[in-house]
Amino acid sequence: MPAPEMMHAIRVHAYGNSEKMHYENVLMPKIEADEVLIKVSATAFNPLDHLIRMGVVQETFPHKLPYIPNVEVSGTITEIGKGVKNLKVGESVFALLNILSNGAAAEYVATKAEYVAVAPKKIKLPEVAAMPVGALTAWQALFDHGQLESGQRVLIAGAAGGVGTLAVQLAKWKGAHVIGTASEASFPMLKEIGIDELIDYNQEMVEERIEDKLDLIFNLSPEGSNEVSNWLHLLREGGTLVSITSPADGKVAKELNVNVVHMNVQQSGEQLAHIAKLVDEGVLKPVIAEKVKLKDLPELHHRAEVGTVRGKVLITVGE
Ligand SMILES: NC(=O)c1ccc[n+]([C@@H]2O[C@H](COP(=O)([O-])OP(=O)(O)OC[C@H]3O[C@@H](n4cnc5c(N)ncnc54)[C@H](OP(=O)(O)O)[C@@H]3O)[C@@H](O)[C@H]2O)c1
Repeated sequence: MPAPEMMHAIRVHAYGNSEKMHYENVLMPKIEADEVLIKVSATAFNPLDHLIRMGVVQETFPHKLPYIPNVEVSGTITEIGKGVKNLKVGESVFALLNILSNGAAAEYVATKAEYVAVAPKKIKLPEVAAMPVGALTAWQALFDHGQLESGQRVLIAGAAGGVGTLAVQLAKWKGAHVIGTASEASFPMLKEIGIDELIDYNQEMVEERIEDKLDLIFNLSPEGSNEVSNWLHLLREGGTLVSITSPADGKVAKELNVNVVHMNVQQSGEQLAHIAKLVDEGVLKPVIAEKVKLKDLPELHHRAEVGTVRGKVLITVGE
């Protein structure tokens, strides 16, 4: 019998600190009829990755140990399941993976074809891996839940990170007036991607800076529910606050006649296809702060533990 094919991957062997993550040889994943196998070009880091690894969100994200982390991927399809009609071997693709399955911190990953879209051509394939979480989260928050329209005013609280920088660009593309909170060090980058107004969260209170009513607030900041709820009166009647971190108070929202949504990003190959088109049209680009190699992922997790990771970090896998 031929030896089973092996690949390099990072696996988390126990919840706890980053010393429980190892770069090792593991069995290649096998695909189901509705799946594709992707040779990974790159993946990217998300703050949730290290919370899952520490075991602090075990109840919401129960993993079978050992597991391969990372939910974002760009790469090339090497195999397709019998039932997959819309993708081909050899195509460059990107995807947001199921967070409870083995992830893309590996040379190969298997995923449902419905989560996958053909990658944009305007940017290099590895860089595309910095987009699925941020672009899908921003798309769903601004457009599916927030119903953002041209000419509306939107506050993006936490504009400088992996999600925020894509939210700013998508909101500008829609024709909105975009106000963001960030630290001063992020201001030049945010101006470059077209933000209209900036609030330094270290120096100013959002409530004190916003004078005209907002149509939408997209909160991805680490502020607690009390602070986020304080922003509800900044919305016009019928306006919406969408949060992907702390939820706002529903009772206060009802009194003010505004809407609150607390959402989790969902996979969608269809929405990624729209996003790829916007990248190719020059509307949208990932903002990558740093690149590291796959074998250095444990070190990146260690830095996340001590709070020194800033901005979107790309993890390159292919050569
Ligand atoms: N529910 C979901 O579906 C979902 C999906 C994706 C992400 N998330 C969560 O959303 C959050 C943001 O994700 P991300 O990938 O964008 O993180 P990230 O890349 O680490 O960026 C976080 C940004 O927050 C900014 N920040 C720090 N303190 C702030 C404050 N008090 N007010 C405003 N901004 C502040 C920082 O800006 P400066 O660099 O300028 O200091 C940093 O750039 C994380 O908590 C993540 O887990 C949730």
